[in-house]
Amino acid sequence: MTTYFSETTNYYKEDNPEQLLKKYGSPLYVYSEEIFRKRCKEMATLVPYENFKVTYSIKANSNLSLLKIAKEEGLHADAMSPGEIFVLQEAGFKSDEIFYISNNVSNEEMMYAIDRDIVISVDSLSQLEVYGKIAPGKKVCVRLNPGVGAGHHEKVITAGKKTKFGINLDKIDKIKIIAKKYNLTICGINQHIGSLFMSGKNYTESVENVLIQAKKFENLEFVDFGGGFGVPYKKQEGEPRLELQQFGQNLGKIFDEFAKEYGKKIIFRIEPGRYIVAESCILLGKVYTKKSNYEKLYIGTDLGFNVLLRPAMYDSHHEVEVYRNGKLVKDEQTENVSIVGNICETGDVLIKDRDLPIIEEGDIIGAMDAGAYGYSMCSNYNNRLRPAEVLINKDGQSSIIRRRDTLEDLLQNF
Ligand code: LLP
Repeated sequence: MTTYFSETTNYYKEDNPEQLLKKYGSPLYVYSEEIFRKRCKEMATLVPYENFKVTYSIKANSNLSLLKIAKEEGLHADAMSPGEIFVLQEAGFKSDEIFYISNNVSNEEMMYAIDRDIVISVDSLSQLEVYGKIAPGKKVCVRLNPGVGAGHHEKVITAGKKTKFGINLDKIDKIKIIAKKYNLTICGINQHIGSLFMSGKNYTESVENVLIQAKKFENLEFVDFGGGFGVPYKKQEGEPRLELQQFGQNLGKIFDEFAKEYGKKIIFRIEPGRYIVAESCILLGKVYTKKSNYEKLYIGTDLGFNVLLRPAMYDSHHEVEVYRNGKLVKDEQTENVSIVGNICETGDVLIKDRDLPIIEEGDIIGAMDAGAYGYSMCSNYNNRLRPAEVLINKDGQSSIIRRRDTLEDLLQNF
């Protein structure tokens, strides 16, 4: 039997999807404050270690209202660009709550963080040299490649042998030589093995690998192991959640042992993005067309890849729910369809050949788990307007947390 996410979580509370689209227009990113806070808490308490800290990876979703909630939940944050630093400061994060993970950046971008006393991670020997030249005598963090990767698609595996990221473990001596030359203190090391693992095995292995190397640095204040914590995108099929209890306990033991040997309870951090925000969002869109082209049945919607890029980019799976007259349509009767958007490309496919409840023109489609890398990867391709974002609070009331683009927005840079 199919389980319906919005039903089991009482997701929409006061308003149903139809009312929401009437109020705010379509397509629409709809967030649940309750679920967002729950995931923040689960991560914050993952590891029983005194100096354990979570930095939310805001590339997954940097909506200002959500950032403020993450801050209230006690999370710190990582940034990948001056733009992300800028919005984090706007949301109230202090310099020591932000970690800048740089990758192939200009001197000006490094200075943006240095001027704001934000710790930077550099991820090549070449950038360590640059950092040394512009900020001699300062603290810096280096990103290592632990040799083990993980992820849902080769495009998001960020460690191991086939990626641009990190400094190989056999280059530690060179890191030290450059640090000495510029009187830099290596205050932290970080890594990120990739995005979306559903078993903690590779992550734990990479933690062990990196900690062997960490002992070679005398002045560490923190080690950051990156994100990648997966969420079950196939909930309707009963895909289990990532097992957190044992995973967290294991990490706790490893951290305690390291602290004992190192002689200092340094800070250990993780950097989840997806886990915090993916499941707190359903993306709503409208069905305008139903047609068959040769043998295939197409459902035409306003959910183009300008709105949700992940399926076109990574062949990723999002479950969908269908709503009619404000009510969930269950799959007593199904047909095989592809759900497509309104973008002028054949690759504009949200759902490919899936058995779904019979969908009619005028229905509303909800794409589950759209919170992570949904809005943050939206674009104005085809000069389409990026959607609005709405938050349903604990009491069930909805409010707008980002307005929809306007036609005038398309002209604002000219
Ligand atoms: N830390 C670093 C250095 C990262 O590069 C990333 C993600 C994270 C943390 C957070 O990873 P997460 O916990 O969200 O898996 N657009 C792709 C995912 C790209 C991930 C990029 N880096 C997607 O839609 O699946």
